[in-house]
Amino acid sequence: MKKGLFPTNKFINLTTPFYYYDTVLLKATLESLKQETSKHNIEAHYAVKANANDRILNIIAKEGFGADCVSGNEIKAALNAGFPASKIVFAGVGKDDWEINYALENNIFCFNCESIPEIEIINELAHKQQKIASIALRINPNVKADTHHYITTGVAENKFGINLSDLEKVIDVVKKQANIKLIGLHFHIGSQILEMNNFKSLCTRINEIQQWMLDQKIVIKNINVGGGLGINYQQPNENPIPNFKDYINVITQHLTLQPHQQLHIEPGRSIVAQCGSLIAKVLYIKEGTHTKFAILNAGMTELIRPALYQAYHLIENITSEEEMEKYDIVGPICESSDVFAKGMEINRAKRGDLVALRSAGAYGEVMASRYNLRPYPTVYLTEDFQ
Ligand code: LLP
Repeated sequence: MKKGLFPTNKFINLTTPFYYYDTVLLKATLESLKQETSKHNIEAHYAVKANANDRILNIIAKEGFGADCVSGNEIKAALNAGFPASKIVFAGVGKDDWEINYALENNIFCFNCESIPEIEIINELAHKQQKIASIALRINPNVKADTHHYITTGVAENKFGINLSDLEKVIDVVKKQANIKLIGLHFHIGSQILEMNNFKSLCTRINEIQQWMLDQKIVIKNINVGGGLGINYQQPNENPIPNFKDYINVITQHLTLQPHQQLHIEPGRSIVAQCGSLIAKVLYIKEGTHTKFAILNAGMTELIRPALYQAYHLIENITSEEEMEKYDIVGPICESSDVFAKGMEINRAKRGDLVALRSAGAYGEVMASRYNLRPYPTVYLTEDFQ
């Protein structure tokens, strides 16, 4: 076990649970992504929903990335962190009027639109502000992603996007809106995708749509293929940085861009997941009938992914080097689903040990709740211990 990853001796006196972000790893990850995107002149918009911590956002903004936001407050957080408005895209199936107005006031790059009524409202609000809103149509490409059904988004049954069969109708509506300019097509097929063929299928579908657009003589400046690249939850130590190279290669090899088209991506998880861990304390070891429970002072309120998606997070006892033992590792919340892992092997645990729930930098802190009136977890970055 690589205990060297954590400044464990500095953790000992801190109040738990807390999130720890390894910003050295974050910066190396950003560097790796930048290397691949710059080779192909791709604009990456970090999906703020994955981790909206202000200091994390700041680090990502400094590297020159854009932001993909899904609420007015995410736009606010992105602007505060230093993302330029000209690189902010605003997605979401239910944008409220104040959020649209706020985005218009700040002259964001593009609204990713999902329905006719939404486009009409954006047009109306843009007219009131005497502005032209740039929009992309989020198209539901009906491409399957091999991931958990709660986080697939691009098949016909999902609420997301405009169905292909409605595209012509939507474009007719767009043409009639004086304060709307169509600048792009947007896609997103799901999250935690490790099967590169899924992205290939998406590209093939986009090529077909582009051909149809060409036949209609509709010029589209931007193609946004969304996010979704997965990470290795099983082996975070061996795979700290996702394989951006294969991901970008599959897209650039299979997507046929028209001359002067700009390609955009919206990675979230792949940038921040591996740099984050939830650090918790073992409260009790309880002997069950069939199993031993390690009861932590963190639960689904701090990290909901295992309870919500049956997601796997590797757990390490970072203060013990004793023999490995199997535990059901659970939280203190009054819900039977408040279980992090069943039969997970960790170094023999006792009251007071610290455990790290790994790969928790994405959709961890942001999804924390105050259920049972628990406080939000505190946060430390590498630089807090230097
Ligand atoms: N773009 C759009 C339009 C999205 O809906 C999402 C994520 C992303 C980009 C970023 O996707 P990523 O690169 O992070 O896969 N809470 C779930 C994940 C929900 C993802 C929602 N959309 C989880 O914990 O697994």
